[in-house]
Amino acid sequence: MRNSNRQWTIAARPVGRDVVESDFALVEGPIRPPATGEVVVKVDLLGFDPALKGWMENIGGYVAPTSIGDVMRGSGIGSIIDPGDSGLAMGATVIGPLGWQDFATLPAGQLRTLENDSQLSAHLGVLGTTGLTAFCGLERVGKPFPGDTLVITGAAGAVGSVVGQIGKIGGCRVIGIAGGPDKCRMLTQELGFDGAIDYKAGPMTDALRELVPDGIDVLWDNVGGTMLDTLLGRLALKARVVICGGISRSKTGGMPVGPSNYFNLVFRRATMEGFILNDYEADYDRARQRLQGWLADGRLQSREDVQTGLENAPRTLMRLFEGANTGKQLLRVGD
Ligand SMILES: NC(=O)c1ccc[n+]([C@@H]2O[C@H](COP(=O)([O-])OP(=O)(O)OC[C@H]3O[C@@H](n4cnc5c(N)ncnc54)[C@H](OP(=O)(O)O)[C@@H]3O)[C@@H](O)[C@H]2O)c1
Repeated sequence: MRNSNRQWTIAARPVGRDVVESDFALVEGPIRPPATGEVVVKVDLLGFDPALKGWMENIGGYVAPTSIGDVMRGSGIGSIIDPGDSGLAMGATVIGPLGWQDFATLPAGQLRTLENDSQLSAHLGVLGTTGLTAFCGLERVGKPFPGDTLVITGAAGAVGSVVGQIGKIGGCRVIGIAGGPDKCRMLTQELGFDGAIDYKAGPMTDALRELVPDGIDVLWDNVGGTMLDTLLGRLALKARVVICGGISRSKTGGMPVGPSNYFNLVFRRATMEGFILNDYEADYDRARQRLQGWLADGRLQSREDVQTGLENAPRTLMRLFEGANTGKQLLRVGD
């Protein structure tokens, strides 16, 4: 085991442009011993979310601001190598805000102990914030009914692939929008979606006419911008539009381009609502139980894309904005 700690820190803010490797600096130093109530965790696995870029930019205001020189934030799974006075067990597997580093010294209260099950990584994906976002957002905001047509943008990504599967479990007709034929094939042939549209293959007009002839009842949007605008033009009566993310803003900065088709909300008596997962904490236990049950009985599949090596952390984040990942983007830090 290493006896020093490598940490990726924020060196620049990627505002109005793509994330690049020079936005981060790799520093190496001693492992900080635990203070009262703290533990030291050896980081094994990190999860990546497009929101990390927004946090580097300090937009949104729903998380504490970052500073240049901060260790890059990120959820992770690891094992306790120094429990300090916390009462947690040496070697226990934990999940929490470990950050991009080999060893995290942090308050024990920020960690949750995980059972050593065979699907540990799922706690960063379908059983973690990804799955919770899909479950809570769909139940509380999308409110799908059996028979509804559910259309998802960013459908082959972490959240989108879970939203679609939950939609199928709930009896919806599910259409996913994703970049490239491989991702579309995965959605229909492996995850059971009823249809998929490759938005990189050209205008979506014909495919939408064919696959969504009666309009969209629930629109789950991870992308925003012109893609959202196109889809707003195809809403069914009383549609619910769930604004989960806006990854298309990643290259331009600021907020996603506003939709010129928003007035269709009036003609269709539709609602459009943004949400932040943190507001639904009271639902987490019930949501996790449901997701765990579906995962165990095979109705929910966990899709993960696992890279390796802490030195590759910036490149791993960049994969999200290049469309290189399928499902949840993870990075194995340890051996
Ligand atoms: N509201 C909340 O509480 C909450 C919670 C969690 C996540 N989120 C948000 O939900 C969204 C999805 O998160 P995730 O973790 O599931 O990420 P993800 O879908 O795995 O993100 C990466 C995918 O986004 C697509 N993408 C990238 N740039 C794009 C562009 N310019 N236009 C269209 N698609 C693009 C790519 O897929 P293609 O190859 O298909 O283009 C890429 O593989 C993110 O915006 C995230 O920040 C919100």
